[in-house]
Amino acid sequence: MNVIIVKDRAEGGKKGFEVFENAYRNGAQVFGLATGSTPVTTYEQLTKSDLDFSQMTSVNLDEYVGLAPDHPQSYHYFMQKHLFDQKPFAQSYVPDGLNSDAAAEMKRYDQIIADNPIDLQILGLGQNGHIGFNEPGTDPALGTHKVALTESTIKANSRFFDNEAEVPRYAYSMGIASILKSKHILLEAYGPEKAAAVKAMIEGPVTTDVPASFLQRHDQVTIIIDEAAASQL
Ligand code: GLP
Repeated sequence: MNVIIVKDRAEGGKKGFEVFENAYRNGAQVFGLATGSTPVTTYEQLTKSDLDFSQMTSVNLDEYVGLAPDHPQSYHYFMQKHLFDQKPFAQSYVPDGLNSDAAAEMKRYDQIIADNPIDLQILGLGQNGHIGFNEPGTDPALGTHKVALTESTIKANSRFFDNEAEVPRYAYSMGIASILKSKHILLEAYGPEKAAAVKAMIEGPVTTDVPASFLQRHDQVTIIIDEAAASQL
């Protein structure tokens, strides 16, 4: 793992952008994208840049089950607002939160990932060590699957909703196995509330208790963290 420690998330966004730009200049065609507050500074740099994604493909990690693409808290909407409106891709895939047939949606999305192998996958990190919505205990061999969110994730994500009761209880997420198929992985994490998960991810054993620890098994991982998130290393 290549660990880069930066002052804050603004500087992290600039470093994150450099990783994107490098992949882009080296011929990357498919970008795996993530939501959450973490990648926002990187997306800001991308929107300000001269990089052109109009011939490229993006594949997002996850989506809440039950939210329509135009729901303000859906991950589809998030991507539209933070990146796609300014930098459209030729094709952007996000799991379909309105597909109530979970088996069909899992199959459809796995096929999309197989048809569009990801060159660079950006990730955030949950406070409990989750990546995408792969919560602790998730079988690392799974592809796209339906996830019951943990109480800790529901609480953490409730800040984006009017109240905790409105947070969806389920999500569709790429699996750890799908994520590890990406050629290059970029994980960003900022703030003291991520420090314990960062330590477990980098220095702890590879365990299903900390889904992000499986990144230790990949040979091209870049981790960008601020000083607060690095404080327990
Ligand atoms: C959510 C997302 C993850 C994200 C995590 C951290 O649960 N499914 O992909 O990494 O939250 O969010 P934030 O970046 O806002 O801290």
